[in-house]
Amino acid sequence: MLRSHTCGELRIENINENITLSGWVQKSRDLGGMTFVDLRDRYGITQLVFNMETNANLCEQARKLGREFVITVKGLVAERSSKNAKMPTGEVEIIVEELSILNKAKTPPFTIEDNTDGGEEIRMKYRYLDLRRNPVRKNLELRHRLSIATRNYLDKQNFLEIETPYLIKSTPEGARDFVVPSRMNPNEFYALPQSPQTFKQLLMVAGYDRYYQLVKCFRDEDLRADRQPEFTQIDCEMSFVTQEDILDTFEGMARHLFKEVKGVDINEFPRMDYADAMKYYGSDKPDIRFEMKFVELNDVAQNKGFKVFDDSELVVAIKAEGCATYTRKELDKLTDFVRKPQIGARGMVYLKCNEDGSFKSSVDKFYSQEDLKAWAEKMNAKAGDLILVLSGDTDKTRKAMNELRLEMGTRLGLREKGVFAPLWVVDFPLLEWDEDSKRYHAMHHPFTSPKKEDIHMLEEKPGEVRANAYDMVINGVEIGGGSVRIHDRDLQKLMFKHLGFTDEEAQAQFGFLMDAFEFGAPPHAGIALGFDRLAAMFGGSDSIRDYIAFPKNNTGRDVMIDSPSPVAKEQLDELFLQMVKKGTK
Ligand code: AMO
Repeated sequence: MLRSHTCGELRIENINENITLSGWVQKSRDLGGMTFVDLRDRYGITQLVFNMETNANLCEQARKLGREFVITVKGLVAERSSKNAKMPTGEVEIIVEELSILNKAKTPPFTIEDNTDGGEEIRMKYRYLDLRRNPVRKNLELRHRLSIATRNYLDKQNFLEIETPYLIKSTPEGARDFVVPSRMNPNEFYALPQSPQTFKQLLMVAGYDRYYQLVKCFRDEDLRADRQPEFTQIDCEMSFVTQEDILDTFEGMARHLFKEVKGVDINEFPRMDYADAMKYYGSDKPDIRFEMKFVELNDVAQNKGFKVFDDSELVVAIKAEGCATYTRKELDKLTDFVRKPQIGARGMVYLKCNEDGSFKSSVDKFYSQEDLKAWAEKMNAKAGDLILVLSGDTDKTRKAMNELRLEMGTRLGLREKGVFAPLWVVDFPLLEWDEDSKRYHAMHHPFTSPKKEDIHMLEEKPGEVRANAYDMVINGVEIGGGSVRIHDRDLQKLMFKHLGFTDEEAQAQFGFLMDAFEFGAPPHAGIALGFDRLAAMFGGSDSIRDYIAFPKNNTGRDVMIDSPSPVAKEQLDELFLQMVKKGTK
């Protein structure tokens, strides 16, 4: 062994022991008579001492050590005269007797420190150096602990972890597939799974009534802070269960993880149906760390001569408590915010509830003090509160108000990282209209069962049919989603028909699943949690990249290995593929 201890291990109790340590040179300080070197490994930092008087030769060698050199030392543990209470090993140092350089290192392109001087791009290019830094290492340790706690919980509940294939079949539903050409099957392609959905359902047909898998999924979609082209799910499925059983089991798992990994006790998750989430928060993933619910003002704000409101489908407001003191400048900033193209509101109306009981609004011309008082009453506003109002088409206005609510929540410090507010959003619509393709798409996926009592509306009002589908939302982030599945061939066929598939298309794409339903498919349901998102949530970050060892950048590139990249002509020929010049397609 090139070490007897790690660099995070030695304490005052180890004084006078002869030890061997190996690691990387964090930094060295040459004080003339003495040279100090901080030696680092995954576990911590230990101070090494080289003394010119007692061993000049060794001290000379130590002076030449560069940052990130890999060395091994033998020496004696000694008590430090000036102790460092901030370091677990800060009471001791090693009086080095032997030093060998295991490998030299070039000067790293950024400092390997908690607050590095390296920008994102350079750190991604040299990710193996970035991974040496404490904050990144801590994130991966957290991820590891989460995976162990997840597996322990599910194992105790009799779930089996079963691997499903990565080379599967492309289907038109959902996001875009990553496709893989097949050399042995000319002009045919595999697809990488967007999720193991159909396989886990087939496992239910096979009788494996509790399945789970920490599994990589692949989706060729636009990337954001919480989206990677390859990501990991905690994917689960159960047979002979109702929606209630799934919610219980996975709420239990989430609580277990919070307790085990963060030491946090979480109360029972509240439930909110989709319609209410949209009405009161304008989002299917409301951040309920704070109230600030939407209040619709149509009845008090319309028909008073203000055309903008009169012509709107929805007039909706939020109340920012204690913000009546906002200056003109601050209000203008908020108006600019809601007018940004990605938010899309035309403008914003405000109402200040002054301390003296009077009201001041941006539409005073159209409304009397009495009218404005009616708004304030409807909002349950008190003196000192500020009311912000948006109007327009219902869906767009709710979406914009959601952004404004989140912005106000952030400004007012109501979205603290260490506070966790999970909930279940339930009763999602089964279908959603897609303007581009002019057809309905499955809101969750085509295997989700409609609510029994809504099936009769499938023909006449497909948009109103609700699904047995649910999302786990924490602090405004969709952590997971799932549904009770269809397990009956005829209902599955009907579903495909409503999604615009002909019988032949449905059979060609999903015949294997519908066939399986004829061989004794049990009722089943499941869920998948985004594992990267869960890790980021636990770590208090908005970016899942920080919790993935080797992530892609926001154009889907791995800048370290420089991928994607062209392949040789011979390789393309073998796969019956041709290179097309960019821009000619
Ligand atoms: P869904 O598509 O909702 O459901 O995905 C489940 C969860 O996976 C996470 N997620 C992502 N995380 C990072 N990057 C991405 N690109 C990404 N896409 C999704 C989210 C999401 O809630 N088969 C169904 C589940 C089921 O019905 O059981 C499914 O995949 O946290």
